[in-house]
Amino acid sequence: MIVGVPKESYPGERRVAIVPAVLPALAKGGLEVLVEAGAGFSAGYPDREYADKGARIAASREELFRAAEVIAQVLCHGSNDKTGKADLPLLRPAQTLVGFLRPLGQLETLEELAATGVTSFSVELMPRTTRAQSMDALSSMATICGYKAVVMAADTLPRIFPMLTTAAGTITPGRVLIIGAGVAGLQAIATARRLGAVASAYDMRPAAKEQVQSLGGRFVELPIEAKDAQDARGYGTAQGEEFYRRQRELLSDAVAANDVVITAAVVPGKKSPVLVTKEMVARMAPGSVIVDLAAERGGNCELTRGGEIAVEHGVTIIGQFNLASSVPYHASQMYARNLTAFLLNLVKDGKVQINQNDEIHRETLVTEGRAIVNARVREFFALPAQAKGA
Ligand SMILES: NC(=O)c1ccc[n+]([C@@H]2O[C@H](COP(=O)([O-])OP(=O)(O)OC[C@H]3O[C@@H](n4cnc5c(N)ncnc54)[C@H](O)[C@@H]3O)[C@@H](O)[C@H]2O)c1
Repeated sequence: MIVGVPKESYPGERRVAIVPAVLPALAKGGLEVLVEAGAGFSAGYPDREYADKGARIAASREELFRAAEVIAQVLCHGSNDKTGKADLPLLRPAQTLVGFLRPLGQLETLEELAATGVTSFSVELMPRTTRAQSMDALSSMATICGYKAVVMAADTLPRIFPMLTTAAGTITPGRVLIIGAGVAGLQAIATARRLGAVASAYDMRPAAKEQVQSLGGRFVELPIEAKDAQDARGYGTAQGEEFYRRQRELLSDAVAANDVVITAAVVPGKKSPVLVTKEMVARMAPGSVIVDLAAERGGNCELTRGGEIAVEHGVTIIGQFNLASSVPYHASQMYARNLTAFLLNLVKDGKVQINQNDEIHRETLVTEGRAIVNARVREFFALPAQAKGA
């Protein structure tokens, strides 16, 4: 069975889906790797390293898609809303695609994918179970983003993070507030602490308190309670506008008191709630920094400009997209390990064997036999449920 690794085509994307280090594990599972020439170069993995581990190099994208039975990608059509469409004519029935598909994004992109006949799996839909933990690409990318957000903030802030006592006097530590303590937020706390900042965090899920504190962060308690804050998969749920209004009101002083605010409060498939208003930004000290990790989903800060860095009221608001791509070496390494674990579970005896009793298969499978077959995706887009066995 041949796994094809195309070069990522999203503008500025530097990651690659499979790195040379995972090739021996794939080979053990009967999976050969074919890499498009130059696919790993911008992530720090030259063709030679793939070849040394037994991969073949395809001279062209067309050749790669023709030969490969499984396509392993980072941003596929859907999550790659710029150039992903160009791959559609290269996909075919009896081929399997695995990657970020943005399954709760646009129905049209999923229909286009289904029409090619390809069997596609979305890594975003990975169940949050212990067994699937090694395949959880969202967590991997969130880890990278949380780290990078702090590094960018530290680089932009006109202050240093650690407390220093020097002959030239004492420097007080930087203060970092994280709003949304999921995987990215928790990694941001850990990174800010390592750099010597005083870190605090808020999340509407009560379970986050202990996690924040275990990383040495202070948990910001607000006297409001979210209704069913967490869904069955462990994700935060959407709340009503009145709840968000109260949150903004109660967070205002905490935001003003910090040098850096990192927002990472997202709700799957929904626009991110605005938790930092322009009035709250205006209360921050000049030179302060906001990194909005929810920028791609509309942003948690009212003044975020998606994909850009803005300066408003003297506060720098970083709303850049696709931060994981800016740490391509380790983002690719983590993603490749996630995909390897997934593929080794999916391919048995040299064939993709979909087992509907395996929740990892069932929950990530999006298109098969020219149809959108995923129950959660169908429900999200209000498509009629499919008859069992259809
Ligand atoms: N395999 C596993 O068991 C597994 C894997 C990954 C994550 N998790 C856990 O799932 C939880 C969610 O992590 P995630 O990174 O996927 O989250 P996420 O990226 O979906 O969301 C980020 C955070 O924003 C919070 N949020 C959303 N709306 C908010 C609001 N209005 N106000 C404040 N906070 C708000 C959410 O509660 C969440 O913690 C974490 O506790 C994480 O440790 C478990």
